Amino acid sequence: MRSSAIAVSSPARTHAARLPAEITERPVASALPTRLRPADLLRLTDEGAEDVLAGRYDHLLPDGGAWPADNRWAVRLLADEEVDVWLISWVPDRSTELHDHAGSLGALTVLSGALSEFRWNGKELRQRTLSAGDQASFPLGWVHDVVRAPDQFAGAADPSNPTLSVHAYSPPLTAMSYYEVTGHGTLRRSRTVLTDQPEGDVK
Ligand SMILES: [Fe+2]
Repeated sequence: MRSSAIAVSSPARTHAARLPAEITERPVASALPTRLRPADLLRLTDEGAEDVLAGRYDHLLPDGGAWPADNRWAVRLLADEEVDVWLISWVPDRSTELHDHAGSLGALTVLSGALSEFRWNGKELRQRTLSAGDQASFPLGWVHDVVRAPDQFAGAADPSNPTLSVHAYSPPLTAMSYYEVTGHGTLRRSRTVLTDQPEGDVK
């Protein structure tokens, strides 16, 4: 019995031993779509938030601190082949709609004000409030709706006191699907759009 067990495993070992060293020693390629991990994206958004607060992106911000009051606004802070980093300002009652981030991982850090996130947990939408300093990461398949939190969380609706967050996506966003919750407690995908804009098309 003992020798039989060895005999079963030996062909594969023999085959592997015949492969050229440049193949057997090649690192196993990751099945994930990006080299970056959620912790990397959280760090990038944290650094982006710090840089915004330190004034390093002032040249990209609205003139005179006049944050748009009617629509979400976004500007890309960094972009390369691996990751996009965005600053988003949020306004009341303009939710992203329920969406995913297609093949991208994501993360965010809230700089000021607060966001309400409604995440689909497979059975229902679960709400949480993300306040200034809070972070969240979004693995593949994360479906959520994000909106500026009511002003008791976000602070007075003062244009000089905007609700701001920094987001990172890796690989850079290429598409998003939108969903609706059916009466049967399931999600139905309503549309998919090709986009590189964060958190829904910013008008
Ligand atoms: Fe999102």
